[in-house]
Amino acid sequence: TMSSVVAFSAHIICNKIPGLTATQRRICRVRPDAIVAIGNGAKLGIKECQRQFQYHRWNCTAVGNDSVFGHVVVVGSREAAYVYAISSAGVTYSVTQACSRGNISRCGCDRTKAGMSLWGDWKWGGCSADVRYGMRLARRFLDARELEWDARSLMNLHNNKAGRKAVKQNMLTECKCHGVSGSCTMKTCWKTLPSFSQIGNFLMKRYHTAKKVTAFWGKLSSSKEPLYLHQQSKRHHRKPRPKDLVYLQPSPNYCDMDLSRGSSGTVGRRCNQTSNNIGGCDLLCCGRGYNTHQFTRTWQCNCKFHWCCFVNCNTCRARTEIYACK
Ligand SMILES: *[C@@H]1O[C@H](CO)[C@@H](O)[C@H](O)[C@H]1NC(C)=O
Ligand SMILES: *[C@@H]1O[C@H](CO)[C@@H](O)[C@H](O)[C@H]1NC(C)=O
Ligand SMILES: *[C@@H]1O[C@H](CO)[C@@H](O)[C@H](O)[C@H]1NC(C)=O
Ligand SMILES: *[C@@H]1O[C@H](CO)[C@@H](O)[C@H](O)[C@H]1NC(C)=O
Repeated sequence: TMSSVVAFSAHIICNKIPGLTATQRRICRVRPDAIVAIGNGAKLGIKECQRQFQYHRWNCTAVGNDSVFGHVVVVGSREAAYVYAISSAGVTYSVTQACSRGNISRCGCDRTKAGMSLWGDWKWGGCSADVRYGMRLARRFLDARELEWDARSLMNLHNNKAGRKAVKQNMLTECKCHGVSGSCTMKTCWKTLPSFSQIGNFLMKRYHTAKKVTAFWGKLSSSKEPLYLHQQSKRHHRKPRPKDLVYLQPSPNYCDMDLSRGSSGTVGRRCNQTSNNIGGCDLLCCGRGYNTHQFTRTWQCNCKFHWCCFVNCNTCRARTEIYACK
């Protein structure tokens, strides 16, 4: 039958994806339809990371090996925190979206709320995106990578969770009015996903306010874990809040190439000569200065339409300069 063919090729595919843990391979084999959404989600996350950081010294490259699912970013820095959170958000998002579209057999719309009345004149209806399913699968799959039970894996788990929560927190409510001639006597509302860049922006704010943590061995009275993360603040024994991003180590300055610390340096990066801000040559080139490349740009211009039927254009030229870090 069709499903056994799918299962068979999933078996082959799942054994070929590099860097999966045994648990991830098992999920991959039994949920071949979900693995497509999971893979797309991880890519969505990394693409958004590269967009957010395109003008920063660290531009979301040197993210580990080629594997989408491998361990990434060597140093436990706030950049690593962002990578984990945005990847986890990407998987949550993509799985939730695939559920709503009917692309995953075991999920669909979130019907738990359907029909429930809120404040008299509106009720839940339509297809609410099942973000809880997306969160559950993202957790099962991505958290299965963290087997070490050390400080770094706790950091990753925490940021994975913050990423999942970011999706949930940014869900939108859309409504439709029912009533005579456009009056809104009755409304039907449902939950829907925002654009993914909105989640990227949201996590960017969390990146800027990320909390430095230290791992401690021992037992907090409130938890059973043998190892826990603890925020370095004056108030003692403060566990980081679930929605915050956390990191263990300071970031390198990302000026010089040091692959062992996840920095590919900024030599050759395009910079903006007139900006004093992020992306400006001063900041991006770390004071090393920049090279100017001049070239002539040509394009079709002043196009006129003649009856009938051709278009006549001039060729325009302009000298342009681009700047690249020394
Ligand atoms: C890439 O993977 C290899 C083996 O899987 C590992 O030894 C190496 O440290 C990884 N590189 C990075 C940058 O994570
Ligand atoms: C998801 O479903 C749509 C139609 O419902 C289909 O066009 C698309 O190819 C599916 N995508 C995947 C990844 O299965
Ligand atoms: C990031 O910077 C490197 C140079 O350090 C460049 O090769 C790469 O294309 C950049 N990546 C993106 C996504 O802009
Ligand atoms: C360079 O920075 C200036 C000032 O921030 C901005 O107006 C301009 O659009 C930027 N140029 C490019 C090519 O990004």
